[in-house]
Amino acid sequence: MSKLNIVEHPNDILRKQCKSIKGLAPSKKIKQMLDLMYESNGMGLAAPQVGWNARVFVMNITRDRSQELVFINPTIVSASKEKIEMPEGCLSFPGMVGLVERPMWVKILAQDLSGQHFYFDDEEWGSRCAQHEIDHLNGILLIDRTQKLYKGEDPL
Ligand code: CO
Repeated sequence: MSKLNIVEHPNDILRKQCKSIKGLAPSKKIKQMLDLMYESNGMGLAAPQVGWNARVFVMNITRDRSQELVFINPTIVSASKEKIEMPEGCLSFPGMVGLVERPMWVKILAQDLSGQHFYFDDEEWGSRCAQHEIDHLNGILLIDRTQKLYKGEDPL
């Protein structure tokens, strides 16, 4: 079992603006976030969702562990004008989904565990998921982006 737990809505921790990581990120904690994400069948997990105020999220839109990604201090550097509405879930709103309109793709600049900068872009779920997780780092939640939540399974 992982030592971290998912923070569910409502909780003030989920509403805070997260602080940038200075220097090397704690890799052990980030590894625990990845483990918790897999245990919870999520595609992404942001630091405030484990009670950590930091600009960090992990993501894997496949079930293949070689595809997992760690984003430290991510920023969206460009986004498509074209938007698309898709259902999204969130581990902090278990069993709920909502329709959310977002840019179809984004390009993100972030740092990896070794502090190296990298660019990420993806036209489908990767962009969708990354935008959702970056929202978490700014205290923005699924309920702020959708008219209503309904019961369903589509975890992000
Ligand atoms: Co979420």
